[in-house]
Amino acid sequence: MKLIQTIQELRTELDALRKQGKSIGLVPTMGALHEGHASLVKRAVAENDVVVVSDFVNPTQFNDPNDLIKYPRTLDADCALLEKEGAHIVFAPSVEEVYPEPDTRTFSYAPLDTVMEGKYRPGHFNGVCQIVSKLFMMVEPDKAYFGEKDFQQLAIIREMVKQMEFPLQIVGCPIVREKDGLALSSRNARLSEEQRQQALNISKTLFKSLEWAAGHSVEETQQFVEKAIAEAEGLELEYFEIVDGVTLQKISTWEDAPYVVGCITVYCGEVRLIDNIKYKE
Ligand code: PAF
Repeated sequence: MKLIQTIQELRTELDALRKQGKSIGLVPTMGALHEGHASLVKRAVAENDVVVVSDFVNPTQFNDPNDLIKYPRTLDADCALLEKEGAHIVFAPSVEEVYPEPDTRTFSYAPLDTVMEGKYRPGHFNGVCQIVSKLFMMVEPDKAYFGEKDFQQLAIIREMVKQMEFPLQIVGCPIVREKDGLALSSRNARLSEEQRQQALNISKTLFKSLEWAAGHSVEETQQFVEKAIAEAEGLELEYFEIVDGVTLQKISTWEDAPYVVGCITVYCGEVRLIDNIKYKE
């Protein structure tokens, strides 16, 4: 496995591999890797000749400067995990390498990016599209892998690929959970043991709501989740929305869309956690 830190070296390396007819898979990450990332890399290794994993904490997608400062940076441990999973190249550039000058491009995929995370984290998806589009241009992958935990991000990246006609396939991969249900996230490392127990109520509530939804309306399911999180110690709900899984717009009845997802964001202390559940697919 090679650790590459400059765009020029990355291009030279990948051009040579492409000339040999090798297919290239890209797994974009911000590092602090866990088993969720490992599952993306495993899938990419199974489906491509060469797998590039980018490990870059992208400053332009953080609307909260504190969150950027506190974001865990664990390149050595990341490389150990990636070596074990069979990745070929880790691309870990500096901020100056990626943004030698400010990126003034704007991306707008309304109404996909104006709801939920788009509403609570203004500018976040613009930053995500800036870095992901740069990575697509640097790596020119055949396939790129993203987790379904960031459900809205995945929908927006699919739309960007469609509108910008990037010649690649986006592969969405299922959420990976701890045995007790907690969705894996780099942010979990910031939870105390007590907070980790409290955070468990997020996935527990979503799973219970799946059963509840079978006999209740969308509004009743919404209220069920809101009440459960309000009653759970240590958690503060930012939003829970039951949406059409394609348009990301709220639905009013279960018949409104063939694919229905509940997306939730909860604060556990200072740590912002997201999760989602599919009610219909
Ligand atoms: O999902 C993430 O970790 C990031 O948003 C991504 C896609 C790597 C872009 O920085």
